[in-house]
Amino acid sequence: IRHLTTLENLPRECIERLLDRAITMRDACAHGTRKLDLLNGRTILNLFFEPSTRTRTSFELAARRLGADVINFDIGFSSTSKGEELFDTLHTLEAMHLDAIVVRHKVSGTPDELVRHAMSGVSVINAGDGNRAHPTQGLLDVLTIRQHRPDFSKLTVVICGDVKHSRVARSDVHALTKLGTGEIRLCGPAALMPEASEFPHCKFYNDFDKAIEGADAAIMLRLQKERMASIDLPDEAAYFREYGLDSRRLAMAGRGCLVMHPGPINRGIEIAPEVADGPQSRILEQVGNGVFVRMAVLGEMLAR
Ligand code: CP
Repeated sequence: IRHLTTLENLPRECIERLLDRAITMRDACAHGTRKLDLLNGRTILNLFFEPSTRTRTSFELAARRLGADVINFDIGFSSTSKGEELFDTLHTLEAMHLDAIVVRHKVSGTPDELVRHAMSGVSVINAGDGNRAHPTQGLLDVLTIRQHRPDFSKLTVVICGDVKHSRVARSDVHALTKLGTGEIRLCGPAALMPEASEFPHCKFYNDFDKAIEGADAAIMLRLQKERMASIDLPDEAAYFREYGLDSRRLAMAGRGCLVMHPGPINRGIEIAPEVADGPQSRILEQVGNGVFVRMAVLGEMLAR
């Protein structure tokens, strides 16, 4: 892979290879090899125009564990704040001979624009663009599911919440579809659901009690207020009653249903604290897998 901007066009074997590679990375770290030298001499730039805790930190950790040099570009203190155009910033940074740019931006399609405008051989990795794609999140989510339920053809996965504005939902659906998931259900209030034509392989629900019935994994989504017109804003208490994952609803899911959330979680809005912290929660396991998946992606793209 030269660039990773979406999972949409990535073949199944490529996704499976990255997941296998992530497990190899995990095992290497578990056996005490905290630092590999796969990317010695490589330089990776984190270019985040939107806030991040998990993605930015895990990309940095992943790069450092592989021996690369990492630069965290501070947008607030950069010339972006003085009006520099994005592509001038790109060309300026390219002139410093970077090997990869990890980019997050509120505008969908920005990573592909960077690929089109790049003048050097720099690789571009999408760390989340608007509501369009978050490919490494999609990979770490299917890795987490695969560790517990390896046969995707037998699985029912429900993705619930603000699907319309969610880049995570889109990348999850791309990955789950490629891996042959038995049934993918999308659930949320009508105002927060995308057009059915965008997800031809998914079943659509507005009733979470029905959507969670028998599910093997429930991926809960945050209300992405930063991407909503004010008219879309739901009342949070009413939202939790209709679409929150609490113990009562979890009991309606399949036995041992995996509870997942990309984070950041909003307790009492899309998920009850006792479920987020409960025995079926895989939320922190997702975070841990994020480092291994990003090691796999960086290794695949940049190892000589
Ligand atoms: N899941 C995710 O993208 O989290 P951050 O916004 O903290 O990176």
